[in-house]
Amino acid sequence: MMSYLARWLRPFVVISFIVLLVVGPSSMASATTEQELNDISSLWQTSAHALNDVNCASCHQNEETKEFVAVPNHETCQSCHEQAVDTFLLSKHGIRLLEDKSPLTPAMARLPMQHDAMQNQMNCNACHDVHSANTVEASVDACLTCHNDQHSLNYQNSKHAELFASSKDLPRPDSGAVSCSTCHLPRVADEFDEAIVHVNHNNTYNLKPQDRMVGDVCMNCHGVEYSYNSIFDPELVEANFAQPPKLELQSFDLMKAAEKRRTSNAPE
Ligand code: HEC
Ligand code: HEC
Ligand code: HEC
Ligand code: HEC
Ligand code: HEC
Ligand code: HEC
Repeated sequence: MMSYLARWLRPFVVISFIVLLVVGPSSMASATTEQELNDISSLWQTSAHALNDVNCASCHQNEETKEFVAVPNHETCQSCHEQAVDTFLLSKHGIRLLEDKSPLTPAMARLPMQHDAMQNQMNCNACHDVHSANTVEASVDACLTCHNDQHSLNYQNSKHAELFASSKDLPRPDSGAVSCSTCHLPRVADEFDEAIVHVNHNNTYNLKPQDRMVGDVCMNCHGVEYSYNSIFDPELVEANFAQPPKLELQSFDLMKAAEKRRTSNAPE
């Protein structure tokens, strides 16, 4: 029913957008062909936005002034996605926007980045194709358009990547799979309603201290010892966990020894 309605509405959507373009800046009208509009409109039609009555004007028209917005930014998303925007703005990715500076680009990075992405600007649309709002693409492929260090590239060799490749369910990647965002943009329950799941867009939050990621992420699937022995081994982190852990952390040995002593009641 919904998709029938969307198909029926399609010509109207395109026509109303052309009207928006005409009243909007002429620079954009000349840059966009009708074919491009059609492509955008078909991406939008199957998106979570179309299914929830979020249409072209919801993002391309200013709510108060009714002015046409050619390139919507994170402030456009904020009215509906407060949690995503707030957490994004606190991250390494978003903090420059919070400070009213120019957006982060790979050219500013210390870590290795893809050469042809050096001028790509960080914003919501750096990871989300805003018209399809596809979260599977945003979870790995989008990251690798910029990130080019050994850890990021090695992800593709891991068991985690195999799991992700075999379970790309939409609308949200399967919770049993592990993508870049499972570790770096982990899911969290809404503070008022446990049934609502948000994505913590702060990619800085669980990097330090290292064991924060153990509790928030790894231990949803692995034991405590396995997790610590993986995450405290820099080589295994660089390999993006593409091998079983070799490390045997001393504190675990000491804990085990203490436990043994306690249970056997041996005097010390
Ligand atoms: C969820 C918000 C949102 C909705 C809904 C939306 N757009 Fe966009 N649109 C954007 C953003 C953000 C950009 C800027 C993208 C960029 O710079 O990469 C954009 C860019 C564009 C562009 C410029 C070309 C491009 O791809 O960068 C056109 C044309 C366009 N939108 C048309 C539409 C049409 C037609 C609809 C309805 C079918 C629509 N948009 C619905 C957010 C939205
Ligand atoms: C008018 C309200 C509104 C605006 C503006 C809006 N969205 Fe949405 N968005 C929604 C609703 C409603 C949903 C579907 C319910 C949900 O997942 O929260 C949604 C879902 C999404 C999803 C999840 C898609 C999925 O398949 O689960 C993403 C990603 C998204 N929006 C990104 C954006 C971005 C980026 C912007 C700004 C460019 C934006 N939205 C602007 C209302 C909006
Ligand atoms: C538009 C390019 C771009 C995209 C897309 C992108 N990043 Fe980044 N990311 C950067 C840049 C630039 C930095 C800063 C690196 C530096 O300073 O050396 C960064 C930093 C990071 C950091 C380190 C944060 C910190 O506080 O030190 C992590 C983790 C990260 N990104 C993960 C991801 C993940 C996961 C994705 C996909 C879901 C992603 N990035 C998508 C450009 C990008
Ligand atoms: C670094 C890449 C990246 C950036 C930048 C990014 N997102 Fe996301 N976003 C994702 C990924 C990946 C998911 C899905 C992760 C999952 O479900 O495990 C997601 C999920 C979402 C969702 C659905 C889940 C939720 O929390 O409601 C919304 C809405 C959303 N993003 C909005 C935004 C908005 C708004 C911005 C800009 C402020 C933004 N995103 C910037 C990668 C990104
Ligand atoms: C299983 C969890 C996991 C997965 C999957 C994962 N990472 Fe990481 N990532 C980590 C850990 C742990 C660190 C190291 C944190 C530390 O030691 O500070 C890290 C570090 C990083 C850093 C460097 C931060 C810095 O400042 O040095 C970037 C960038 C990054 N990851 C991007 C990605 C990208 C892109 C992907 C997917 C292609 C990915 N990661 C997949 C767990 C993961
Ligand atoms: C959603 C569940 C899930 C999460 C979250 C998760 N993993 Fe995994 N991990 C798996 C599964 C499943 C395997 C494959 C097990 C197998 O095939 O034996 C795996 C495999 C591994 C391996 C072994 C790879 C190999 O080649 O044998 C390591 C190391 C690992 N994970 C570390 C981590 C760390 C560290 C974290 C957190 C930063 C983490 N995992 C988060 C499910 C998860």
